[in-house]
Amino acid sequence: MSLPIIETPRLILRPLRGGDEPDFLALASDWDVARMTSDIPHPLLPMHAKAWLQPNGSDVRFAIELHGRMIGSTGYFRRRSGAAELGFWLGREHWGLGFATEASAAAVRHGFGTDGHMAFSSAHFVDNRASGRVLAKLGFEEVGRSRMWCAARGTEVEALGLWLTRERAEAVLGPIAETTPAPERSGGGRISRWLYQARKALRDPARP
Ligand SMILES: CC(C)(COP(=O)(O)OP(=O)(O)OC[C@H]1O[C@@H](n2cnc3c(N)ncnc32)[C@H](O)[C@@H]1OP(=O)(O)O)[C@@H](O)C(=O)NCCC(=O)NCCS
Repeated sequence: MSLPIIETPRLILRPLRGGDEPDFLALASDWDVARMTSDIPHPLLPMHAKAWLQPNGSDVRFAIELHGRMIGSTGYFRRRSGAAELGFWLGREHWGLGFATEASAAAVRHGFGTDGHMAFSSAHFVDNRASGRVLAKLGFEEVGRSRMWCAARGTEVEALGLWLTRERAEAVLGPIAETTPAPERSGGGRISRWLYQARKALRDPARP
């Protein structure tokens, strides 16, 4: 699936690539990164990195770059329902500078504006207040509690579920321009274009 390159004031979001493996291993081998995600194992082996860096057609995963180096990732899983599930992480030395919020805001805008998602869901473990704060700054609102599997901890962990509508995202992040998705070869691209057309029809029923 081809993803665009997105520039934010300080960062570049670009598709993940095989050459990211050394940076990914260095950044995500940190226990304090892995234990807060659902899907980064610990210890992290090259085979895990290879799999993580090859998202399937439903995954939209961007590398976050600062000065030409990968510092983390943000993106989402496209649900056929029309909603998408947001996730993000950064290498520890880059925490506390607003990068997760800046990069994930761009991913959310892409999800609504280009991929045509109707809403975003997300979740964070109850002991991850920094992630809760990032999601709040993006406009996400808490909708309930659940349990999620944590690959690194090897157990289920209590989690908070959050939800973001397009209207709420626009109220918090500003207007989101609609961008027609580029033609793509994969199933993910077909879903993306279908969602885009469906949303256009819902928002503008008079349009053929
Ligand atoms: C969560 C994470 C992505 C945040 O990245 P970041 O770039 O530091 O995030 P931002 O700087 O954009 O925002 C962090 C916010 O959390 C706040 N924060 C940080 N640590 C906190 C804590 N222990 N308790 C409460 N708030 C905290 C910061 O003050 C900031 O809020 P503010 O802007 O209102 O001051 C990063 O810590 C990380 O990668 N953690 C490990 C992986 C992870 O948790 N991923 C998310 C899985 S749901």
